[in-house]
Order: sequence, then C-alpha cells, then structure tokens
Amino acid sequence: MTRRWMRLARRAGAATALVLLLGGADAPPPEAWIVPDIDALPHDVWGETVRHGRDLVAQTYALIGPEVADPAKRYAGSNMACQNCHLGAGTRKYGVPYVGVFAGYPSYRIRSGRVGTLADRVNGCMTRSLNGKPLPPDGPEMTAIIAYIKFLSTGREIGAPTEGRGVGRMAELSRPADPVRGKQVFTQVCAACHGAEGQGQRNGTAGDARGYAVPPLWGPDSFNDGAGMNRLITAANFVHNNMPNGTTWEAPSLPAEDAWDVAAFVDSQPRPHRPGLEKDFPNRLEKLVDAPFGPYADTFPETQHKYGPFAPIRTAINTLRQAEQTARAKATAPGNGAAQPKP
Ligand code: HEC
Ligand code: HEC
Repeated sequence: MTRRWMRLARRAGAATALVLLLGGADAPPPEAWIVPDIDALPHDVWGETVRHGRDLVAQTYALIGPEVADPAKRYAGSNMACQNCHLGAGTRKYGVPYVGVFAGYPSYRIRSGRVGTLADRVNGCMTRSLNGKPLPPDGPEMTAIIAYIKFLSTGREIGAPTEGRGVGRMAELSRPADPVRGKQVFTQVCAACHGAEGQGQRNGTAGDARGYAVPPLWGPDSFNDGAGMNRLITAANFVHNNMPNGTTWEAPSLPAEDAWDVAAFVDSQPRPHRPGLEKDFPNRLEKLVDAPFGPYADTFPETQHKYGPFAPIRTAINTLRQAEQTARAKATAPGNGAAQPKP
C-alpha cells in the first residue's frame, strides 16, 4: 500500500484502513469516503487546471456568470454557483458530490435516450440548473471542470459505485406532498436565510458578479423548470440531508414529512421555463416518475407526477413494461412471418 493511501485511509477512519490493509487494494472500497487533498497538488499545469475547475464550481458567478465583464464568458444564466447544490464544491456525501463521478461516464442517459459523456452531463446542469448556455466541450472551462471531477474521483475504478453519490433516498409518503403545509415549513425554517420570497441574499448588489451568500429557491435567478432540483424526489432528499445549511445526512434535522412538503412548495413556485421539456425522456417507459411535465406513458395526472404518491405510478409503469415485453416476444417468436430473418 502506498503512503498516500495510508494517509487517506487514516483520515477515512480505522475500519477503512483495515479493509485497505487486508485487501492490499489499489482502489478504495466504495464505502470509503475519500476526498483527495487539493492543497497537496503541485503548482504545475495539472494542479493549476484542477484548482481552476474547483474555482469554476465554487465561484461560478465570478467566472462564467451573467454579470462577468467579458460578454463571451457569460455562459451561466443565473448568479448561482455549482456548489450551491454540489455542496463543499462537490465533496459532501449526499450533497450531490463529484467524488467518484468521473468513473460513471460515458453512460446511457434516460433523459436524452443516448449515451452521454461527462461534458454532456455538466452541460445538462449549465443549461438547466444554471439556466444558461452549454460550455464549449473542449474549451478551457469544461476541461478544468472535468479535470477537477477526475481529481475528486482519484482511485475509483471505472463503473464502480460510490456510496453517497446523489442526494440519498428516504422513504416516500403514501399521500401527495402538500405545498400548502410546505409553505408553513418554509416560513418557519427556510425564510430566515432564503428570504420570504425565496429570493436568497446576494453577496453584494445586482450587477457586481459576486453571487449569493444564500442562493435563491425560485424566481428569475433560480434553476429552471427542467433542472433535477425541480423534481420532488431529488429536492426533498437534498433538503432532508442538507438543509438548513450545515445539516448532514448523518443527523437530518427536518422531519421527513416536512422535507417532502417544503420541497413541494419550493418546486411549485415560479421559475424560468426551459422550452422543449416534452422531448426529455424519449422512452416514456423510462421517464422518471417525478418528472413534473408530460407526456407520460401512464394515465396519472401531472399533479400526481409532481407531488406523488409515486408507488401507484411505478406499478402502472411496470405493467406497461411487461405488456411491451410480451408484445415484443410475440413479434419475434419463430413462425411469425414478420420476424423472419432476412437473407
Ligand atoms: C440548482 C442546483 C444545481 C446547480 C446550480 C448545479 N447542479 Fe449539477 N446537479 C444537480 C442535481 C440535483 C444533480 C443530480 C442529478 C439529477 O437528479 O438530475 C446534478 C448532477 C450533476 C452531475 C452528475 C453527477 C452524478 O452523480 O453523475 C454533474 C457532473 C454536475 N451536476 C455538474 C454541475 C456543474 C459543473 C455545475 C455548475 C456549472 C452544476 N452541476 C450546477 C443540481 C445542480
Ligand atoms: C442557515 C441558513 C439556511 C437555512 C435555514 C436553509 N438554507 Fe437552504 N441553503 C443555504 C445556503 C447557504 C445554501 C448554499 C450552500 C452553499 O453554497 O454551500 C443553500 C442551498 C439550498 C438549496 C440548493 C440551492 C438552491 O438555491 O436551489 C436548496 C434547494 C435549499 N437550500 C433549500 C432550503 C430549504 C427548503 C430550507 C428550509 C427547510 C433551507 N434551504 C434552509 C442556507 C440555508
């Protein structure tokens, strides 16, 4: 075992160190939460590029935001930062981390129905979560962001799972989430930081490209309606595991029921619209149950896809999938003229 892994393992805890020692492993096990130390990188071209990627994630508004001096660099459509959602610049478990993410791409993406690269995924957030334009795939900003994500994925095997990726998955409610009750939770718990109108608190004033001390939750400078945070299951789990800011998944402070309801309230508020959302998830049987816009393969109304309960939708989708499989099996069965192989 290298000295570096010894050091990382020590930081990750004795149990992990034991696993690493016994296994003599080169790659960390998925349960080890290891965040490589960016300050230990040399100040060479690679080290500086990784740091630039970290800065783009932490201070997006100052480098590629809508208020930066150079109009050619105004890629993001809002003054938010990637790390407003990818907490700690992508280093927090269940705070939509980047740790291990490099190992997961290219992969089949159900939203596009295609195999997408990591650059495609970053641009998904550029155009939805940041309501802006895509970064040029081989430009210096995309290169730096991907270098940073690769750095945070050091030691992860291609395709290996990373525990803590995403936002977590708590049990769902058996009733629809209730935006009216959620508004009360918002007023009591969230408004002190995020503002009574969900507008957040700027670091300085509009126009100075200094972003937010507390980001907005809705309105013109928030994520658009095609963003992952605009889906209830994602928003509720993010809030439960990470809000009020400083909360971690180990000790959530908001009761699960409140998290579902307040997320429903936030996602029911006005925000920028992304045209063409009906083209997302071209295979409707793969469409996420909480996609808040149609068309759907099932007959449940849009409100149930927005607020749940989701279990009945999943059951209906499974039935439709089985029916499709049966139909396909029949069509390709021997003796069926239509399916005879052509010479
Ligand atoms: C408003 C919140 C928000 C902002 C801002 C945001 N993202 Fe995301 N991002 C998400 C969510 C939520 C997901 C999880 C995927 C989903 O459910 O759609 C995600 C997923 C990702 C992923 C894939 C993670 C994985 O596990 O595969 C990458 C990479 C990513 N974002 C990069 C970025 C970058 C780079 C920026 C800034 C340029 C950014 N995001 C800004 C919310 C955001
Ligand atoms: C103590 C202040 C505080 C409280 C209370 C708080 N937040 Fe946040 N919230 C923040 C900060 C700060 C961030 C950005 C984190 C960062 O940049 O590191 C954030 C980020 C978010 C985000 C992702 C970024 C965005 O703007 O979309 C959501 C969603 C969110 N909070 C929802 C909530 C909800 C819902 C509540 C109430 C249950 C809540 N927050 C309570 C301070 C707070």
